[in-house]
Amino acid sequence: MKLTIDDVRSRFIKHFDGTTGNVYASPGRINLIGEHTDYNNGFVFPGAVEQGMIAEIKPNGTRIVRAYSIDLKDYVEFSLDDEKGPKATWARYIFGVCREMMALGVPVEGFNTAFAGDVPLGAGMSSSAALESCFAFACNDLWGDNKIEKMELARVGQRTEHKYVGCNCGIMDQFISALAEKDCAMLLDCRSQEPKSIPISDPSVSVLIANSNVKHALTGSEYPERRASCEEAARRLGCELLRDVSMETLLANKDKLIDEANGDRLFRRARHVVGEDARTLKMADALVVGDWKTVGEQMYASHDSLRDDFEVSCPEIDVLVEIARSIGPEGGVIGSRITGGGFGGCTVSLVKTDKVDEITRKYEEEYEKKTGIKPTIFSTRPAEGARVL
Ligand code: GLA
Repeated sequence: MKLTIDDVRSRFIKHFDGTTGNVYASPGRINLIGEHTDYNNGFVFPGAVEQGMIAEIKPNGTRIVRAYSIDLKDYVEFSLDDEKGPKATWARYIFGVCREMMALGVPVEGFNTAFAGDVPLGAGMSSSAALESCFAFACNDLWGDNKIEKMELARVGQRTEHKYVGCNCGIMDQFISALAEKDCAMLLDCRSQEPKSIPISDPSVSVLIANSNVKHALTGSEYPERRASCEEAARRLGCELLRDVSMETLLANKDKLIDEANGDRLFRRARHVVGEDARTLKMADALVVGDWKTVGEQMYASHDSLRDDFEVSCPEIDVLVEIARSIGPEGGVIGSRITGGGFGGCTVSLVKTDKVDEITRKYEEEYEKKTGIKPTIFSTRPAEGARVL
């Protein structure tokens, strides 16, 4: 069921002094293609989803933030001036955002807040970026005269992940959550950080998300290991980041990436990133002209590369993509792939709108038959980024 303002407001009123504040919302995201390219300064192509975070916020005239997580039924208080901040991870996101906004000169004051989300947690749909951009947007609105650009709000979210949560993520999730335009996906060059909105306006095509219900966590060792491997590969190729490497250069210098300790691991990591940048641009071009065959080919090629070269898929997600492949264009599936950081989470499929129900049924039946797990499947339209409600 979709989260509403009333769900949050009723808890805010109950939890605090009976008065109301301002309400802000910010979306989670899927990524159509361009995975593990953002921290290599490459290209990504995400879209915001209708699911997200809603927070009610009211200044309380102190230096203390009083925060209630409706979903976790957990309450935390922290001082804006205490450098250490709270222990609970969910509260550290809010603390980090406030501190980073203060570092930009925004005179953030204490506030009461209750918030909730309907982005599935640990599903690779960036519930944390939604939380960050929601509070960054709110601080900018309440105390910053909305002077800080949305791009900088996205960077505030990213710095929060790096400095306060210990997740060394790229910029994709925060960018789309802060800046998304309704009914558009965003082609983002992570080097120039100039987003380009691309309409996803054909009503005959829908975005179908299938949550494998296998949880992912990016604060473990895998994500930093992938990032470090990419940096090492670029270093060996004489570049700062893999964005600057073409497939020709990579293939011509393959031997520099192969050694006894790593085998061909660094080469395969680099091949994924370099290939994925090209696929992302190709898919965006194909999507603009409605060349669905090319769109589908890029999505499946991206998945295969993430599975075999980058090794961030998992058996359950592979099952979901194989089901999509077996339904094929005749059955209404244009393309499908893992979305987000990997190691579980969701697949994103582009499907024919008039076949959504049939495809959903097939995904559910086949996936449960093959894995014993019930998936959660829903379709979505590209939603708007952080905003006041
Ligand atoms: C996570 C990170 C992003 C990006 C993706 C992989 O979602 O937060 O920055 O690296 O993984 O594409």
